[in-house]
Amino acid sequence: MDIYERIIADHQTQRDLTASILNTEGNSEERQQLWKEFQPEAIAHANAEEQTFYAALIEDPDTQEQARHSISEHKEADDLIEEISEMDMSSSGWLQTFKKLKEDLDHHMEEEEKEVFGKARKIIDEDQAQQLAEAFNNRKDAELKEA
Ligand SMILES: [Fe+2]
Ligand SMILES: [Fe+2]
Repeated sequence: MDIYERIIADHQTQRDLTASILNTEGNSEERQQLWKEFQPEAIAHANAEEQTFYAALIEDPDTQEQARHSISEHKEADDLIEEISEMDMSSSGWLQTFKKLKEDLDHHMEEEEKEVFGKARKIIDEDQAQQLAEAFNNRKDAELKEA
């Protein structure tokens, strides 16, 4: 498995979790459980990406700007996740803010898969792409343990 396949696998998890959350109601057990699962998953994914994949992209002048852009979107998503965590789950504002987060994340993941990966493939060779997947797994495990 290379870094691209590894990231796509996580994106699928995030798409599944956020779609499931949209189908929940109010302050239900189900919504609480899914949010509790989604939150550390999304944060650990973004941090592991930054520490492995984007760390490689930011070193190359051809991909530096793209890396910075993606990292700034991670920060925006982090802020929204924190905001949602502090909201009352039964309020209509909770679902509205969550929908905004889901839209942002869908856009972000699509951009990574359709634009960033193409740029990355020009500067990362297949050996490095395999190594980055291993590093990603290690970082993500460590992040999840800290959470
Ligand atoms: Fe990302
Ligand atoms: Fe991602």
